[in-house]
Amino acid sequence: MSGKVNERKLGGSFTFPGTSLAVQRIGYGAMQLAGPGVWGLPKDPEGAVALLRAAVTAGVNHIDTSDFYGPHVTNQIIRQALHPYPAELVIVTKLGARRPSAELWLPAISPAELTAGVHDNLRNLGLETLDIVNYRLMGAGLGPEEGSIAEQVTALADLQRQGLIRHIGLSNVTAAQMAEAQAITDIVCVQNNYNLAHRHDDALIDDLAQQGIAYVPFFPLGGFTPLQSSTLSSVAERLGATPMQIALAWLLHRSPNMLLIPGTSSVAHLHENLAAGQLTLSPQILAELDSIAGATVAAH
Ligand SMILES: NC(=O)c1ccc[n+]([C@@H]2O[C@H](COP(=O)([O-])OP(=O)(O)OC[C@H]3O[C@@H](n4cnc5c(N)ncnc54)[C@H](OP(=O)(O)O)[C@@H]3O)[C@@H](O)[C@H]2O)c1
Repeated sequence: MSGKVNERKLGGSFTFPGTSLAVQRIGYGAMQLAGPGVWGLPKDPEGAVALLRAAVTAGVNHIDTSDFYGPHVTNQIIRQALHPYPAELVIVTKLGARRPSAELWLPAISPAELTAGVHDNLRNLGLETLDIVNYRLMGAGLGPEEGSIAEQVTALADLQRQGLIRHIGLSNVTAAQMAEAQAITDIVCVQNNYNLAHRHDDALIDDLAQQGIAYVPFFPLGGFTPLQSSTLSSVAERLGATPMQIALAWLLHRSPNMLLIPGTSSVAHLHENLAAGQLTLSPQILAELDSIAGATVAAH
């Protein structure tokens, strides 16, 4: 077995650039806490509260959320579970969409809608200032689409000057949009779709790493289509770990600016995911796992 336990708890620590916000590299993504289709109450609201408390007790100090999960529901559960918040907890939220019904995720990107979104988050989380707000482009669904974001980033920078937002991030963006935003204000993180099998952002990740900017993959485990690969299963079996743990450990090894926010509604899965921070993958194993993306590309 070439995977071995070491002392790094939750993948070690990362400080968002130009900030005093330090987080463990394995955090928690709260999207799974709403009901089916990220709509309405979960089947087990008390279980959701217990899961958040278990995460924080285990050392998680980075929670990713949005007021459009539920909508409002996920933030209200976070508030119920954790308010008053531990000083070291960093809650990252996102703006840019509205949910008129369970099926719809519509853009909400005018300065007035972004301002209203900040106030929704503040109210439902019970905060006076949001630690980090990602502007989430609706783009082409789960992938980005080119186009100027200057108006939205300028609006967020105004909200930052008003003291309602500490730091700004972007989600579902291209490298060109990131550069456009950085000409307007400091960007501390980027949250895009990325995992072992979906590696369109490899060059962007390397560029952000050089700048010390966090890259936070959404769908780290494949999201609504969980990762499945015979190579992944084979590596997991040889290392005495689960495939999901290997997928998360691979991300931690991919780049030092990689922060994880795996989502789960299960306390057992939560602990399984957090334990991925203790896996060390050898160069041979990493090369084997790297071949998964090549096989995915070849298959399309
Ligand atoms: N910026 C964006 O546009 C965007 C988009 C999507 C998501 N996000 C954020 O990213 C976070 C992560 O994405 P995600 O939750 O959609 O997808 P994910 O983390 O890739 O996968 C979540 C799915 O994997 C399952 N799972 C989790 N741990 C597991 C384990 N150890 N073994 C087996 N199955 C496991 C979960 O089911 P169980 O509940 O049964 O564990 C759930 O179905 C979200 O929670 C959200 O905060 C952001």
